[in-house]
Amino acid sequence: MEYHKLVISLLVLGCLYKYSTGYVPDLPADIQKCTIADERCLLDGMNYVIRHYAATGSKELGLVQLDPLRIKKLSLGKNPNSPVSIDLSFSNADLIGLSEAQVQRVSAFTSDLSRPIVFDMVSPKVTLKGPYSVEGRVLILPVVGKGNAQIVLENCQVHAVVKLSPVSKGAHQTYAEVTEVKMKLEPSRVTYKLDGLFNGQKELSENLHALINENWREVFNELKSDISGAMGLIFKAVLNKTIGNLPLEQLFSDF
Ligand SMILES: *[C@@H]1O[C@H](CO)[C@@H](O)[C@H](O)[C@H]1NC(C)=O
Repeated sequence: MEYHKLVISLLVLGCLYKYSTGYVPDLPADIQKCTIADERCLLDGMNYVIRHYAATGSKELGLVQLDPLRIKKLSLGKNPNSPVSIDLSFSNADLIGLSEAQVQRVSAFTSDLSRPIVFDMVSPKVTLKGPYSVEGRVLILPVVGKGNAQIVLENCQVHAVVKLSPVSKGAHQTYAEVTEVKMKLEPSRVTYKLDGLFNGQKELSENLHALINENWREVFNELKSDISGAMGLIFKAVLNKTIGNLPLEQLFSDF
């Protein structure tokens, strides 16, 4: 993955759940165990978890609250070769809307975890909302600002390829770790609303909003690999925490 202009300094998710050692919980009773190769069951299971636990998180599943998902820090760096060259950072932002996400496909696991897992999802509307600062150049305009921002991605198609690696912690205690996530986002529309641009100079702010909202596709395309990379790291942290919470012997009926 291309990270040349991506600086994700300290991307830490808030309040991750921890279990005390020695006690190995089972899968919650309302969640059906699947066999590792049953794609339909895995798909239904993931959608069940999103519908029932995204808004609250689940201690038993080691799942953080997904909606809103608190993002402590997320930053993109300038790329002098791109028409969109900005330092953009968010701190303590919320990603809102993931509870409406639908997994459309999840590929089967293999018993040695050697085959990457492919996820396809769609999220009708996700909003990144929170304090931001920006400095740089967008197409022909210089940009500088600090305040609250809201970036909305509509009908966002998400394609992720996840590499896993098994870690044995004893007999019948094989844990999966997420070693790599490659993610691609394809929204059908992106809208930007940035408060506090140009020290509150209204006309400059309106010009920039018109420019980036009318040319949202070009702007997003320039930032896509960085934004996808950042979202991939977030997904990786959430998934690693969840999948590493229970041994595979308890997640699957035939592992
Ligand atoms: C994944 O989680 C395990 C603990 O379950 C941790 O040791 C490991 O560092 C994590 N890996 C990543 C990439 O977050």
